[in-house]
Amino acid sequence: MKPTRRTGIVSAMQQELSAVLARMPDEQRQRVAGRDFWVGHWHGHEVVAVLSRVGKVAAATTAAVLIERFGVDRIVFTGTAGGLGDGVRVGDLVLADGFVQHDMDASPLFPRFEVPLYGRARFDTDGALSAALGRAARSALALPAAVLGADAVAEFALHAPRVHSGLIASGDRFVATSAESAALRQALPAALAVEMEGAAVAQVCHDCAVPFAALRTISDRADDAAHVDFMRFIDRVASHYSAAILEAYFRSL
Ligand code: ADE
Repeated sequence: MKPTRRTGIVSAMQQELSAVLARMPDEQRQRVAGRDFWVGHWHGHEVVAVLSRVGKVAAATTAAVLIERFGVDRIVFTGTAGGLGDGVRVGDLVLADGFVQHDMDASPLFPRFEVPLYGRARFDTDGALSAALGRAARSALALPAAVLGADAVAEFALHAPRVHSGLIASGDRFVATSAESAALRQALPAALAVEMEGAAVAQVCHDCAVPFAALRTISDRADDAAHVDFMRFIDRVASHYSAAILEAYFRSL
């Protein structure tokens, strides 16, 4: 008999979580550490859905509770990110193959970005789980208009999304100036995108040996225009993308 699996679904934004909950037929709320954890099923698979909250510490707490209190044996994280890499455009997706904390700097005691006492800056995601999530994204988003409607596609001038795979940088800062994103590009040339939580969840999952995958929809280019229409983009695009991808993922299991 296959062992029962329980997947933690972490959403960065409330709109995404609402779209997830709308697809769970039987969720029950449990409040722990000031957070609502929603325990139920999706296509017959056990899931626990929760909002990450914003920033690395909040996201680490959420991940630790998911693992220790709710016993999830893998975590899938969805949200938005600012694009850094060449050709990573608004409406594309970045599937993380690893994370780094761009604001970790204990130099000169340790090299810049290295997390002290771990001997590393980078925390990798799980290859098999990420590959499955990437397949789900490609199949779910082949036709964005089918997921979003033609109006949203036109409003945000969206194209068929590309799914890029690579490094994501996390830090406790919304990057909203061209100078800051240029500095990040120079310091971390491999980083495709920037957000505020993934590296923290990756580190907790590393500590607890729990497979982790993360997929972020690019909402902005982390430049001077980054805050424009961010909330509207989440409402109209990112939350629908996340739900459609997770739907395809759970169907495929
Ligand atoms: N999430 C989405 N866009 C972002 C940005 N520009 N900086 C940090 N986190 C983000």
